Amino acid sequence: MLSEKYVTPGMNTMDSIQNRISVRRYSDSAIDDYSRQEMERCLQSAGEGPFGSNPRFKMLNIKPLSRDEQNKLGSYGFIRGAHLYILGAVKDQEGALIDLGFCMEKIILKATRLGLETCWLGGTFKRTAFASKMDLADEELLPAITPVGYAAKEIPAEKRKARFKPGSKKRRPWTKLFFEADGKTPLTEKAAGPFSGPLEAVRMAPSTSNRQPWRIIKESEGCFHLYLKEHKIINRFLSKIQLQNIDMGIAMCHFDLVARERGLPGQWLKSFAGPELSGLQYIATWKK
Ligand SMILES: Cc1cc2nc3c(=O)[nH]c(=O)nc-3n(C[C@H](O)[C@H](O)[C@H](O)COP(=O)(O)O)c2cc1C
Repeated sequence: MLSEKYVTPGMNTMDSIQNRISVRRYSDSAIDDYSRQEMERCLQSAGEGPFGSNPRFKMLNIKPLSRDEQNKLGSYGFIRGAHLYILGAVKDQEGALIDLGFCMEKIILKATRLGLETCWLGGTFKRTAFASKMDLADEELLPAITPVGYAAKEIPAEKRKARFKPGSKKRRPWTKLFFEADGKTPLTEKAAGPFSGPLEAVRMAPSTSNRQPWRIIKESEGCFHLYLKEHKIINRFLSKIQLQNIDMGIAMCHFDLVARERGLPGQWLKSFAGPELSGLQYIATWKK
């Protein structure tokens, strides 16, 4: 039975984006049956990403495994107390990491809506050991996993929201992320019009080492170009997986979900091209 504590009635996408927070200490309680079934359903229907890959996902309960096996899996002490993990695999092809970020963030937001906590892990987990539990095909990667469960200590709603308030060190302000068509003039919320919601949802997204590498320029009404401001050490040297490409997929997921929920027209197109901007790598365009 689903305990009332874990139901969040009426939580829309923006609420779940605001409530999601990286949790690294978990309670020993198993997740309730309803949530477990809902999560399984969500994993099976994660769908295709905007670049055409179909990542696949698996839920892994490490509690029944032998102590020896549990020790082989792990997160170098970053995550404590979690028994349940979601593993995400994808065929290594163009746009695969973006697609994985896009599809896996939908799963993470579903978990948030069910009152469950998560934490994207792209670096601090034993990739080879978890990969052995995923039966990877030759050309498949295991870019990321997340624990899923209840927090060891309840997280106050204010703490969740504080990250996005003006002056918070946890998120960059609009002026550093979103720009007019010249790529230089900051885009105001007023000038973004109805798309201020999807843009704010991008600003709230989780990202590797919280670098927030997304930059967006508004070309015209309803047309937005997404760029990656790459941190080369994080993206190329610290891990074999280009984690900031996953960040781009997460941002596209937030923008897409909020735009759809608010009835705003458009979709992410990869065949379009934004203007060349110095120091930025073009990713995709949102357009009607
Ligand atoms: C693709 C990706 C990989 C991440 N990898 C790790 C990781 O290996 N270890 C970790 O503790 N946190 C990891 N994080 C979590 C980020 O540090 C976190 O999202 C960021 O600091 C913002 O905090 P918030 O999620 O609480 O809003 C990762 C996040 C993303 C999006």
